[in-house]
Amino acid sequence: MTTIISLTQIDDAAEAVRVRMQARPRVALVLGSGLNALADSVQDAEIIPVQEIPHWPLSTVFGHSGRLVSGELEGQVVFVLQGRVHYYEGYAMAQVTLPVRVMQRLGIEILIVTNAAGGINPEFIPGDLMLITDHLNLAGMAGLNPLIGPNLEDFGPRFPDMSQAYDRGLAERARRAASEAGITLREGVYAGLSGPSFETPADLRFLRVAGADAVGMSTVPEVTVARHGGMRVLGFSGISNKANLDGSTVTTHAEVIEAGRVITPKMESVIRGVLKSL
Ligand code: HPA
Repeated sequence: MTTIISLTQIDDAAEAVRVRMQARPRVALVLGSGLNALADSVQDAEIIPVQEIPHWPLSTVFGHSGRLVSGELEGQVVFVLQGRVHYYEGYAMAQVTLPVRVMQRLGIEILIVTNAAGGINPEFIPGDLMLITDHLNLAGMAGLNPLIGPNLEDFGPRFPDMSQAYDRGLAERARRAASEAGITLREGVYAGLSGPSFETPADLRFLRVAGADAVGMSTVPEVTVARHGGMRVLGFSGISNKANLDGSTVTTHAEVIEAGRVITPKMESVIRGVLKSL
């Protein structure tokens, strides 16, 4: 059964955020596993615990704390979601993506999404930062698309275009910001799976021939809903581990969190550069 979130529920949640927040953000940031530190750099931060927002899905995973932080970063008014939820936690796709609907109701135009991902491209090493140029919506191909259900016409059309899911202009700003900061920015295609089990070596070889450079368990639903509602999207994967195409190593959540410590400063510096350029 598909769980549907109505426009009224979205508006209830958006109103609860609006009354607790002075800021009028234009840019939203979604922070992935182990990448939470950026929220602490926000100036004049207003913090809303997500438990206070009706219908908001609460994170159940270690490494995520559920808070909305708004304030200034590099001269931009930003809205930071710390602690996204994932489909594998048992939430419906409409719940996973409710935060993006609320952002759209708040008038936020730009979404910057980050995640931790396994590196499938053999040139990638743990600690690398990858600009997401496109994604493989594998969960969607298996019938798990967050737009399934009645179309919310207030946001966008029944059959939204996904030919430029990741905004080219924002990607160019990210390349420039990375280059100015002396940071190597990898680029590639992110494959979005449901998780929570990591991939088998056969899964990973399949993803490689399908054109994936990185693999993870988030982001694609949020980006799908963001594009439906007309937001411009910029995405980054922090490569936390080398995907194990030959079965010779194991992947653990601990290494994902540990790599976040190396990736966070790079991610922060590139995101700051992009915000400054807007
Ligand atoms: N696979 C899926 N998701 C991930 C991985 C991985 O290897 N690393 C971090 N998130």
